[in-house]
Amino acid sequence: MIIDYKNLITATGLVLLTAACNQPANEPGTTEAAEQEANTVTACVGSLDRKDFQDTIDGKSSDLYVLKNSNGACAAITSYGGRIVSLVVPDKDGKPTDVSVGFKTVKEYQGPGDAYFGALIGRVGNRIAKGKFSLDGKEYTLATNNGPNSLHGGIKGFQAVVWNAVQSNDSTLSLSYVSKDGEEGYPGNLTVNVVYTLGADNAVKIDYKATTDQKTVANLSNHTYFNLNGEGSGTILNHLVQINADKYTPVDATLIPTGKLEPVAGTPFDFTKPAAIGARLDTNVNQQLKNGGGYDHNFVLNDAGTSLHQAAQVTGDQSGIVMDVFTTEPGLQFYIGNFMSGKSSFKSGAKDDYRTAFCMETQHFPDAPNQKNFPSIVLEPGKEYTSTTIYKFGVKK
Ligand code: GLA
Repeated sequence: MIIDYKNLITATGLVLLTAACNQPANEPGTTEAAEQEANTVTACVGSLDRKDFQDTIDGKSSDLYVLKNSNGACAAITSYGGRIVSLVVPDKDGKPTDVSVGFKTVKEYQGPGDAYFGALIGRVGNRIAKGKFSLDGKEYTLATNNGPNSLHGGIKGFQAVVWNAVQSNDSTLSLSYVSKDGEEGYPGNLTVNVVYTLGADNAVKIDYKATTDQKTVANLSNHTYFNLNGEGSGTILNHLVQINADKYTPVDATLIPTGKLEPVAGTPFDFTKPAAIGARLDTNVNQQLKNGGGYDHNFVLNDAGTSLHQAAQVTGDQSGIVMDVFTTEPGLQFYIGNFMSGKSSFKSGAKDDYRTAFCMETQHFPDAPNQKNFPSIVLEPGKEYTSTTIYKFGVKK
């Protein structure tokens, strides 16, 4: 049987990955290859099997979607948590390289080994001290799921729900979710829409929008763990990082900001010029590194306003892959996998070993609802929350 790719796509309403990254999107394969590829997401994203992402979770069906372009980039995203499962870009020699770490099955993402891998984060990313905040004099209580604090939206944040997904073409996936009034302790029905776009320039753009019917708080992010040398290639400590931030927000021992904005100059937090992640990680000489167990801090981005500005640039020391991060957000949580414990296995079979991936979570500052001097994350009815972040990939030879 000859499978007509275009009809297959139209008939199912889902775009299955049917061509390798570096082939034109609609190039027909052989019959056998086509049948195999209908379920197995091949060259683009390792050996993911779409069936392993089809599950029923809280009564909703999850699935796997693939974005691809004709310049060797592909992204596989599951509607469970809106997670980037795989992100393949060419390295300096043109070799397809999966720069995001993650699991092979949606079951593993629901298991104890998950640490928000690839996920959309909300309703409020990062920590809220003691899981409490007030709006108009009314106190709200959230689950404390990270020591004494609430982390990443609570026990069942946006990483753990099935989003409605609509894929209209090879480059765009639109996800939506309605977070009910009272969900995880937050007030107001929050309607959230997130659009992933893979550009011809190998940029993954994430556009977030949200509205509410009651005053609430919102701070959305994405928690992709990157290893620019490729998943399973070991430590990220030799990656070169530049962050466009003259200040950062120091934290207490539970990772709640002290409220101060401190200069990075003269500290291991100075990434205003490119530096290897591991070059200055001695926790004996820096109390902030001790508090964070390494870098796990919010950087105050220099050019923050409402338009896109460059937050960071990271280079994989072996692959030559360069990732530029642009955002409309004022902050960037730079986290270097300090809690990765080697207990789980990723797609490639590699363990989730200590510091073998890093995150760059664009955001408003942690604990914003309790910190008067931080930009507000309050969202009012009639207003729209909007945020955009771009992870753009290229190479340095
Ligand atoms: C965020 C936090 C980290 C850690 C990870 C998930 O980046 O800042 O402390 O909780 O999420 O493990």
